[in-house]
Amino acid sequence: MLSRYFKPSILKKIAESAGTPVYVYSASAFLRQIASYKKAFRALDPLFCYAMKANSSGGLCSLAAGEGWGADVVSGGELYRALKAGFKPGKIIFSGVGKTPAELEYALRTGVLFVNAESFEEVIELERAAARLNLRAPLSLRINPDVDPHTHKYITTGRLGSKFGVSFKEARKIYLYAAGSKRLQPVGAQFHIGSQVHSPRPYAMAAGRLAAFILKLASRGINLGYADIGGGWGVKEGAEMADPAPLAAAAAGVFSGTGIKLVVEPGRSVAAPSGLLLTRTIYRKRGGHKNFIIVDAAMNDFIRPALYGASHPVSLIGPGRGPQKLYDIVGPVCESGDFLAEGALLREPASGQLLAVYSAGAYGFSMSSQYNSRPRAAEALITGASSWRLIRRRETYKDLTANEL
Ligand code: LLP
Repeated sequence: MLSRYFKPSILKKIAESAGTPVYVYSASAFLRQIASYKKAFRALDPLFCYAMKANSSGGLCSLAAGEGWGADVVSGGELYRALKAGFKPGKIIFSGVGKTPAELEYALRTGVLFVNAESFEEVIELERAAARLNLRAPLSLRINPDVDPHTHKYITTGRLGSKFGVSFKEARKIYLYAAGSKRLQPVGAQFHIGSQVHSPRPYAMAAGRLAAFILKLASRGINLGYADIGGGWGVKEGAEMADPAPLAAAAAGVFSGTGIKLVVEPGRSVAAPSGLLLTRTIYRKRGGHKNFIIVDAAMNDFIRPALYGASHPVSLIGPGRGPQKLYDIVGPVCESGDFLAEGALLREPASGQLLAVYSAGAYGFSMSSQYNSRPRAAEALITGASSWRLIRRRETYKDLTANEL
């Protein structure tokens, strides 16, 4: 259970000192998921590039940098934050379907390991940026392997007809073009099939297609050194990551002994179990046949339940009153879709009582907004048995208008 990383005594202290809502992360939970990846992939010795989009808070992702991991970034802003968090430029890869010329130039000036390009037009733009900087751009292509990972449609990315990647046919054309360009150096190929993928099968299928493609390219004299199999390994809400050994075995089955260096981009699986959202009860009420707990966190803080129908376990910090009942836990935002949980089985919390929403370490704060002019939450990191520190202060009302002219 994740609660062993988040003792009620420390959560209460954090809430008192930092206020609520507050994201609370556990350094030891985060490091444990990282260790689990390292162990499972030991024989393959891949480069792990932590997907910053899952949680780009410096205080947390610097722990990944400290473990020798690289970073997978999808914007100039993430690249900036990755460098600040201590990731080595040569271990950063730059992905994303719409990188601007300025972002490509920033990546090349930084000296990233490679750029995962997603269209011919982007490759031309990359070539131009390399010419402006008088260097050669390390190029990898995101290839759409047309594999169905059986996950939510909003987080399925590797089927033809999605906006991501290029087909194998298009990729072949682009690599042949790149091989003839003095400003481009083809170094790798990547796929990413989706997020919350719980089976190794679609990975094995996509990896097999990628490896066959890489071999064919080699017969044309184009030798790619890196195969990047994306992220997306699933983790159940409320639990630690399941052993990624089956994922490693799928990759090993295809790439072992090929001399190709493997790159893996885990995001959610390391970050989600490592964080929770701590919120306070404001009011309780009944509406029709439903019991509501109205808390001070809302969809602007944590949008996963509203956007994906994700179901995150919630528990009271401290005892509740009376028998267990089904509650909808909702926030103050003026939308019916503003809920953190529907039908959670809980005892009644006291007014002001704390609640924890688990598995909120990934795509929680990083997807938060100021909707309804709600200042964004604070973030705290538990560093030891009874030690913690604030890693991001709560926004103020002043922050809401700070950029207005
Ligand atoms: N690499 C690339 C190129 C990606 O697009 C993604 C996620 C990852 C790695 C990391 O995937 P992960 O290991 O975190 O599943 N906001 C959604 C998830 C969107 C994932 C998009 N791409 C959610 O909260 O479920």
